[in-house]
Amino acid sequence: MTLAEKIQSVFPRTTDIPKTLLKDIPCIQTGYLINGEIRAWDGPRQRVLSPVWVADDTDPKPFFIGEYPLLCESHALEALDAAVAAYDHGRGIWPTLSVADRIDHMERFVFRMIEVKERVVRFLMWEVGKSYQDSGKEFDRTIKYINDTLAALKDLDRISSRFSIEEDIIGQIRRAPLGVVLCMGPFNYPLNETFTTLIPALVMGNTVILKPPKHGALLYAPLLEAFCQIFPKGVINIIYGEGRTLIPPLMASGKINVLGLIGTSKTANALKKQHPNPNRLRCVLGLEAKNPAIVLKGADLDLAVRECVLGCLSFNGQRCTALKILFVQADIIDVFLERFAKAVNALTFGMPWQEGVFITPVAEKDKTSYLEALVSDAVEQGAGIVNTSETTVCGSFFFPAVLYPVNNKMRVYHEEQFGPVIPVLSFKNVSEPVDYMIHSSYGQQVSIFGSDPDQIANLIDPLVNQVCRVNINSQCQRGPDTFPFTGRKDSAEGTLSVSDALRVFSIRTLVAAKQTDLNKKIITTIVRDHKSKFLATDFIL
Ligand code: G3H
Repeated sequence: MTLAEKIQSVFPRTTDIPKTLLKDIPCIQTGYLINGEIRAWDGPRQRVLSPVWVADDTDPKPFFIGEYPLLCESHALEALDAAVAAYDHGRGIWPTLSVADRIDHMERFVFRMIEVKERVVRFLMWEVGKSYQDSGKEFDRTIKYINDTLAALKDLDRISSRFSIEEDIIGQIRRAPLGVVLCMGPFNYPLNETFTTLIPALVMGNTVILKPPKHGALLYAPLLEAFCQIFPKGVINIIYGEGRTLIPPLMASGKINVLGLIGTSKTANALKKQHPNPNRLRCVLGLEAKNPAIVLKGADLDLAVRECVLGCLSFNGQRCTALKILFVQADIIDVFLERFAKAVNALTFGMPWQEGVFITPVAEKDKTSYLEALVSDAVEQGAGIVNTSETTVCGSFFFPAVLYPVNNKMRVYHEEQFGPVIPVLSFKNVSEPVDYMIHSSYGQQVSIFGSDPDQIANLIDPLVNQVCRVNINSQCQRGPDTFPFTGRKDSAEGTLSVSDALRVFSIRTLVAAKQTDLNKKIITTIVRDHKSKFLATDFIL
């Protein structure tokens, strides 16, 4: 079978799908969580079609996997009222609960979450087309993130369980919650990235409204009960529907204190403008990126090719951290292209449940048309598709296209493709990729491939001021999650890592007193008799 024939027959018949994966499919999700109550919705619902198409008769068609509620503005505002009431100006049960008690709630939640792992992973696979294996990894990474967050919180609490005395003033400094947090995650990591804002927001004592992403909403169904039963009412509210219906009224209310969004700068900017008191709004944003790789003469080409393939094409290039443009030194461009194209063409492709599959259908509706338009635009302006001359598209499946030579007239040079299209340029002088980065709207990460320490050092110093992570002989990536994850320009606002996230969802607050006998007596009595949760020296082991 030729590559084109294989691509044309990539989609299964219903009978080819393993029965165990079809359990609970379609999932008709009617529940949503507001004020500690899972309510049943009988209004309009969003039909969910998987990126996995099914070819039962003749042409493959999107596979129907479920529905979720399309709530109205009034429900968003009810969720807001519930979160505001649960926060109660910082006097609610949750914001005043001890750190140890909040940790206890979260540990119980993790236990319940693990019980429903199989369903969450399966829905994740169906909803975004991520391989079953990688969907499982996303789940496990999220559990680890929560456990690491709780460990970091214990550390933070231990550090804060002491007094400082400076200039005759006694002070106890802790981190306190900020208020109501609106959390919205992306479709590519609908569980993990949403939870990297949700979990720190909750454990720091904030109350939350969560809107799952458009692709990756059904996977929240198995978690609703645990959220509902474990957290006090109103602390976590989960609403479903169109972002453009639900979110503007929340922002316009002025009652959202923190916006935690992993999405696009266009959405973030529009939402920020809707807040009537922008100075009261804190934002934690993970946005677009166009991370380049710079492959220098002298690089270990096997390693560079391997890392570039992973960097460009893990989850079909649908990662904000993906390598989205490759700059290769002119002396080695031919050999690099030859090996890179060969490695791309050797990737296994198919359905997400197939053992060892790497390339799967792309998640977003009409994405393949966008990718085709990028390729046609580049080809019209002189680029070639170097890895294949055959048809590369079938329904929602897009076989990776390596484009060379790319130049600044082409859309793919500028746009974040977020998919399996790989623009390659050659350069004579290393100032060319550096200039690209200087003039780019994005500033997340870069990968440098080379073996000469001097050459690499000469690039590190200018590039650490363009991006927030310079990777040497390694693809760009977010992990390990204890490392800071952020970006410059339109790529991010705020820093997310296990420990940084605890900081961005809280504010340093202190109790201070002049060191007089009366004040010493008051503080000693409060601490000794455990009269305050804030002014206390207890620590969690
Ligand atoms: O989409 C952006 C993700 O944060 C990427 O995470 O680099 O671990 O795949 P990752």
